[in-house]
Amino acid sequence: MDVDNISAGFLKGPARRRKEKYLMKKRIFAGLLTAIMAASLVACGGSGSAPAAGGDDSSGGADGKDSGEAIVVGFAQVGHESDWRNASTNSVKDAFSKDKGYDLQFVDCDNDSAKQIEAVRQFIQDDVDYIVIDPIVSTGWDTVLTECDDAGIPVIVIDRTIEDSKKYISWVGSEFMNEGLASGAWLKAYAEAKGIKDLNILVIEGSNGSSAQIGRTDGFKKYADEEGWTILDSQDGDFTQDGGQKVMESYCKSYAGKFNVVVCQNDNEAFGAMDAMKAAGVSYGVDKDVILISFDACKAGLEYVQSGDINADFMCYPLQGEYCAKIIEQLEKGEEVDKQTFMQEPWYVAEDILKDITYTNNAGEEVTEELVQVTDAASQASY
Ligand code: AHR
Repeated sequence: MDVDNISAGFLKGPARRRKEKYLMKKRIFAGLLTAIMAASLVACGGSGSAPAAGGDDSSGGADGKDSGEAIVVGFAQVGHESDWRNASTNSVKDAFSKDKGYDLQFVDCDNDSAKQIEAVRQFIQDDVDYIVIDPIVSTGWDTVLTECDDAGIPVIVIDRTIEDSKKYISWVGSEFMNEGLASGAWLKAYAEAKGIKDLNILVIEGSNGSSAQIGRTDGFKKYADEEGWTILDSQDGDFTQDGGQKVMESYCKSYAGKFNVVVCQNDNEAFGAMDAMKAAGVSYGVDKDVILISFDACKAGLEYVQSGDINADFMCYPLQGEYCAKIIEQLEKGEEVDKQTFMQEPWYVAEDILKDITYTNNAGEEVTEELVQVTDAASQASY
């Protein structure tokens, strides 16, 4: 099931496969019913053969959905570490609800890669129709994806990427490298506009090994290297508020008075970092001791941008459930699906001193992108 070689034959597979499963279940049920009726006739001393039960294969169309069978989707979710993650979970649950004809098998993998692989193997054993994975880390996937392939179960990857296997049918998510590059381009332009010469930076990274952490780190570091900024330290805050707070508490002790920029790789880490800075007497935000940069742009994050506590917030769009459901609908109809779908992600800022940023994105194109000053409407419209 190499994503580069999706064949029309395979694309017709899922619906056909579900129909076969449906007919098989009906045959087993009919056989059981016949056996029970025969047994009760014998018990009642009756004679003659039992009437055949079931066996009517005429109901339903070419796939299980028409025949009333729910499409079974197994979703191995990263965990519940952030506002972003909760929005992602809700979006997938909405898209694959019972009313819409789905039976969603949801597993919260609690940020544990071994548990996530185990969840996928369980989906294979349960013979689900489709598997959706949001990969905690970007490597270590080829063996289990080969097992999915061998079982004929199409895999859709959302949000984070898989780097060491192509045995999935489609991916929907964010270009994390561009998020990191945009944050670097913004800091460069902002520091110039404000006349700030020396940038001494502390980074609180997301969960190490995730493509979100890798892309944001590498994109920002490209600017730091080119501009000669000092990255004093860069530690894992695990994308959680608690993680962000703990790392920032230790930074405030180790680098007291030495830093003027904090980059948090998601909003929840930023919330924790703000608590730690407040406790240490460090001010942050517009025209304060520290420029605070964040990613995700969830509702609470944007409220902090609006109040000037976070200087800039680079959106990561989590509502990918409907995109994923559309892919499954296309597969059910035997249609071709896009190999990758990128989310549209605006960049939010607290002040109106810069209108846009220009940078070279991960595809090598020079792009100019608008900076959106946060309004009530923008924060309320966010997730
Ligand atoms: O993979 C997306 C990242 O994971 C989000 O930025 C973060 O909030 C989440 O936990």
